[in-house]
Amino acid sequence: MTTLTKIPNGQQARISVDPRNVISRIEDNTYGGFTEHMGRCIYGGIYDPGNPLSDEDGFRKDVIEAMREIKPPVVRYPGGNFVATYHWMDGVGPRDQRPRRPELAWLGTETNEFGTDEFMRWCEKVGAEPYLCLNFGTGTLDEALGWVEYCNGTRDTYYANLRRKNGREQPYKVKYWALGNEVYGAWQVAQTTKEDYAKKAYQWAKALKLLDDSIKLVLCGESGFSSWDSHVIKECIRFDPHGLADNTTSSLIDMHSIHLYTASSDHLQNVTAPLAAERAIEITAGLIDLARAENRVPPTVPKQKICFDEWNVWDMFRAPGEQGAEEQYTLSDALAVSVWLNVFIRQSRHIGMANIAQSVNVISPLMTDKTGITKQPTWWPLLLFSKYMRGSTLAVHLHSGVYDGPTRPEWVRGAVETPWLDVSAALDDDGLVTLAVVNISSAQDIETQLEGVSTSEGVQVYTVSGEAVDVANTRESQAVSVQEGRWNGKGSYTFPKHSLTMLRWRPRV
Ligand code: AHR
Repeated sequence: MTTLTKIPNGQQARISVDPRNVISRIEDNTYGGFTEHMGRCIYGGIYDPGNPLSDEDGFRKDVIEAMREIKPPVVRYPGGNFVATYHWMDGVGPRDQRPRRPELAWLGTETNEFGTDEFMRWCEKVGAEPYLCLNFGTGTLDEALGWVEYCNGTRDTYYANLRRKNGREQPYKVKYWALGNEVYGAWQVAQTTKEDYAKKAYQWAKALKLLDDSIKLVLCGESGFSSWDSHVIKECIRFDPHGLADNTTSSLIDMHSIHLYTASSDHLQNVTAPLAAERAIEITAGLIDLARAENRVPPTVPKQKICFDEWNVWDMFRAPGEQGAEEQYTLSDALAVSVWLNVFIRQSRHIGMANIAQSVNVISPLMTDKTGITKQPTWWPLLLFSKYMRGSTLAVHLHSGVYDGPTRPEWVRGAVETPWLDVSAALDDDGLVTLAVVNISSAQDIETQLEGVSTSEGVQVYTVSGEAVDVANTRESQAVSVQEGRWNGKGSYTFPKHSLTMLRWRPRV
């Protein structure tokens, strides 16, 4: 959490941090990924058989290596909107017998060459845990139960045996399952009402947990600030006899999912837009508390956290989904992603998981072509946060001037402050403090008094910036990357205009 004292623009900014002021744990799953059967994410992205860059399974080795750098602890699959007409059985068993199907979310053809077993194998190579999303469009509860049994079953039962027949003896132990994706949306196959969804989700949750009570279920929310969220949370986060062994210490619903994409061609609106997500998280956490209070959920049931399982910068007109959503990101977008990540760190007490949408090619920091990969500007903040902003969130107090112009979405202006410096801090498990500071201004360096930097070893500095906010990266040139340096930790630090700076030090004890 970061608190703000607003000061007049031009007065010296100040940041106070203290490694003793630990607020809450940052879940590793905050750095989750997402791979959907969409555009070139799977085919031509992570799976590219025949390409000399691919391994014996057809997986791109350069992509696996890049994913290992980012270290997503969990990856969501297979959609997204794609999942609303996906039948998982189409994607298992001998490849030459898998059906080709028309695909209704992105209007392509799904060959089913890549399915559950391939995804599990890819996750194992990347070192990530799978998170599967169930088909709440054309899918049935029977199919969903079959998928859980296929992945996790240990007994002598049909789908568990089918998995064994397909070459995998041991269960995959898939822990995270989503109860549908964006089923409220007009763009969905089998869009539904909040009332119908809540009833169905609760009944499916019960059956799924009767089959396997080790799984964690994620409710399908909207933006976090909608009547859909308030209704489905109220109906599904409750204290009912639901047939499970102990409903005083566990519940059917473990997390509530929300999605948000931000973008603007105006730099300051682009970089302040992720603050809508911060308010969305606070509102959703409030709705969860409200449901628990009204539904008398005992405090012994762990509080449901938020699964922000799609987030990123995306302008859907600039990079339409049906055309593969291949955004070319700029430095401004990299700073927006930095603010997004600061939001997750500041709000870590509410975040159970977050998944950047998406991991490869589709609105992604990582792009492939036939001969290699490109790391977009947004790659660098994601890498730095995933490496250094782990452990626990530290309280920060900030004295800063604020940007007071228009915001996108518009309501952000009336709901939250938008300081020139966007700040979060973490204390990792090795005892190092990392302070992440985004100077959103495209015009001014900001000299800042730093209180609480007490170290005998000096400070490691990582800076992500570039010539101008609209520069982008290509295979040939990295206009935006990370620069490393040292600082003695004394006095003030000047955060350069349009930059992300991470200061990392071992506090003196
Ligand atoms: O991530 C791209 C798409 O955005 C997903 O398929 C969908 O869930 C969202 O609308």
